[in-house]
Amino acid sequence: MMLTIALAKGRTATDSIMLLEEAGIRFNDFHEKSRKLIFYDQEKRIKMLFVKAVDVPTYVEQGAADLGIVGKDNILDSEGDFYELLDLKFGKCKMVVAGLKERPLATSAQLTIASKYPIIAEKYFLEKDMTVETIKLNGSVELAPLIGLSDAIVDIVETGRTLRENGLVIIDEIEPISTRLIVNKASFAIKHDLITPFIEQIKTALEVKL
Ligand code: PRP
Repeated sequence: MMLTIALAKGRTATDSIMLLEEAGIRFNDFHEKSRKLIFYDQEKRIKMLFVKAVDVPTYVEQGAADLGIVGKDNILDSEGDFYELLDLKFGKCKMVVAGLKERPLATSAQLTIASKYPIIAEKYFLEKDMTVETIKLNGSVELAPLIGLSDAIVDIVETGRTLRENGLVIIDEIEPISTRLIVNKASFAIKHDLITPFIEQIKTALEVKL
């Protein structure tokens, strides 16, 4: 039996690969610019699917992957049914509400919020008893308030540079984000003998990194 792991492409890919290497799992033919989508570790014990971060929760929930390495942002916005087992402590950033410096948010009017994370945005405003219209964008979200497409955005902030360079400020912090290890519920039961040592390897690698 083999374990299949879905690994998020993009900003956390290098850290994910490095953590797996620290845990003794190496994908010889892997490099980020490769167009290949499936990689195998040296011992052919692990099959790695290299997919868009937003899709990792879907692969894991559907059982197409036993495990996934992906940001808490994508986990929260997927509302997927799987176990979140470990905080891998990299890819740290914050989920925030941000808007134009010179225009505070009116709490009375119905707001329009642009986001890559419509579920997170809706939940946040619902908890504040505010109904908002959300506009789903797939990137460059900071543009929306600048051109009047939205009143504010819900997005991740890492260095704060994108906000700053576009004259936006943080209005509220929703929650801290980092990369997590998630596991398909059925796999956790059926492949327990493989998943448990895998998790232990990752835990040890995390301790070495700290
Ligand atoms: C993310 C995020 C912000 C930016 C924040 O976008 O959506 O735009 O990074 O980082 P910073 O605080 O360090 O500036 P990403 O780079 O993933 O690109 P995208 O706009 O295409 O989604």
